[in-house]
Amino acid sequence: MKTVKQVLSEITNILDSAGVAESAANAEFILCTLLGKSRTEILAFGSAVFPSEKEEILNSVVEQKIDGRPLEYIFNSAYFLSRKFYVDERVLIPRPETEELILKTQSKLKHVPKNILDLCTGSGCIGISLALNCPKSKVTCSDISAPALQVAKQNAKTHKVEINFIESDLFNNLQGKFDLIISNPPYIKEADISTLSAEVKQEPRLAQIGGKEGTEIIEKIIISAPEFLKKGGMLALEIGDKEGKKVLQFFSRDIWSNFILEHDFAGLERYIFAYIKEI
Ligand SMILES: C[S@@+](CC[C@H](N)C(=O)[O-])C[C@H]1O[C@@H](n2cnc3c(N)ncnc32)[C@H](O)[C@@H]1O
Repeated sequence: MKTVKQVLSEITNILDSAGVAESAANAEFILCTLLGKSRTEILAFGSAVFPSEKEEILNSVVEQKIDGRPLEYIFNSAYFLSRKFYVDERVLIPRPETEELILKTQSKLKHVPKNILDLCTGSGCIGISLALNCPKSKVTCSDISAPALQVAKQNAKTHKVEINFIESDLFNNLQGKFDLIISNPPYIKEADISTLSAEVKQEPRLAQIGGKEGTEIIEKIIISAPEFLKKGGMLALEIGDKEGKKVLQFFSRDIWSNFILEHDFAGLERYIFAYIKEI
C-alpha cells in the first residue's frame, strides 16, 4: 500500500529521469486528475492511501506522457476560460493566448454582436465561449476539418449552446454578414514545424501550418473578411508573434477604418483588431 505522497514522489522521479520538463507540476496534475482532487487536497492529504485500482491507469498515463503525448489528449480535456472542453488528436489544444484574444475582443465591443463568426474553430473553444458569454448573439463556427467539427459539436452539446456549424475552406461555404469575425487561424511557418516540441508535433498539422510564410491563411482572411462583415464590424485575429508588421500591410485603408496590433501577456505581438469603415 502506498500513500498519495509516495506515489507523487515516485511519478515525479520517473518523469524527471525520463527528461520530462516540469516533472513535479506534471505529476501533481496527473494525480489531481486521476483522483478528482485539487492540488491543495493532494498536498494536504498526502498520507491518504493511493487507491490500488487506479495503479494501472496511472502507469498508462505516465507512459504516454513520457512518450510525448500531451496530458490534455491523455485525459481528453482542456480548460479554456475556466470551462472544460473535450479535446483529442483531431483538434488543437486551446492556449492561454487565445483566452486573452476573447477577453480583449469582448472589452472592445461597443454593443452585443448579433452575429458572430468563429473561423477556424477547432475544438470550438472560441465560438462556444462567446455563445456562453453573449447569450443573445447568434454564433457560427466553421472549420475545413470535418473531424475537428465533430469535436466542436460535442463541446457545444456539453455546454448546451446552439451553434451553426459549417464545414468550409475559410469563407467558401459561408453566407451572410457578421458583426464580429474572430479567428485563431494556423500561423506557423512550414519550415518551423520541425522545431516544435514533441508534444506540439502531436497536434494536427492542419491546425498549425499557415503556409510557407506562416501568414498565407491570415492574408486570405483579411482579404475576404470585408465581404462578410457588417459596416463597422470587427475582425479579431490571433497571429504569429513576429508577424505583426507584415500582417498590418494586408489591410487596405480604403476598406478598413482602423487596424491595431496588440501584445499578449508575455509582451509578444499577438493580436490584430480591425474595423470595417461605416460608410
Ligand atoms: C490554430 S487552430 C485553432 C483552433 C481553435 N480555434 C483554437 O483557438 O484553439 C486552426 C484551425 O483552423 C483550421 N483550418 C486550417 N485551414 C483552414 C481553412 N483553410 N479553412 C478553415 N479552417 C481551417 C484547422 O482545422 C484548425 O482547427
